[in-house]
Amino acid sequence: MKFTYYGHSCFLVETNNKKLLFDPFISGNELAKSIAIADIEADYILQSHGHIDHIADCITIAQSTNANVICSWEIHEWLFKKGINNSHPMNTGGRWDFSDFRVKCTAAQHSSGLPDGSYGGNPMGFIVYTDEGNFYYSGDTALTLDMQLIPQWAKLNFAVLPIGDNFTMGYEDAVRAAKMIDCKHIIGVHYDTFGYIKIDHEKAKKAFNDDGRKLQLLKIGETVQL
Ligand code: NI
Ligand code: MN
Repeated sequence: MKFTYYGHSCFLVETNNKKLLFDPFISGNELAKSIAIADIEADYILQSHGHIDHIADCITIAQSTNANVICSWEIHEWLFKKGINNSHPMNTGGRWDFSDFRVKCTAAQHSSGLPDGSYGGNPMGFIVYTDEGNFYYSGDTALTLDMQLIPQWAKLNFAVLPIGDNFTMGYEDAVRAAKMIDCKHIIGVHYDTFGYIKIDHEKAKKAFNDDGRKLQLLKIGETVQL
């Protein structure tokens, strides 16, 4: 799988010749000025919840790429009202086979209001099952005991977890989450973008190292093979 980081919680995973874009928030991110959203290609957009730091560029990119947006029922309805009619509604606990990959929606302990104040339904995370392995993106969430269920659903190659604290779990709880989901390789997201979530990278990496795990912090625009 090819993994590209676009800053905050936005990333692209390429698998089975399909491009899966997660939580597009680029134009509003001061740290992601080097990324041009017009250049982003996507076959699917996976939308974990409705907060603006996750959905800000969803409509623009859905229009430019005609990507299928995978999201909660409420975000699906909201997008339809905004003129996006290629979206797939799901909800927590549900699984769907998109033929190139499968998705299971997991519980996230967070909130999900949309930018105009509309109700966004449940915030979610995703387990994505592919021919090249499986990964978990928790979305914005606190550490929650629900994560203990994840190893029963998937053996993970890697996981994408928020580590910035204040709005989500911080890196110490993310270490506990990594243990619960039984995953050694974590890619950190949702840090440094705003003052509330600036973190010490070395302390965060050390916390994972001390628990026998690896925290990978990618540069914005960087692509790695996973
Ligand atoms: Ni959020
Ligand atoms: Mn967020």
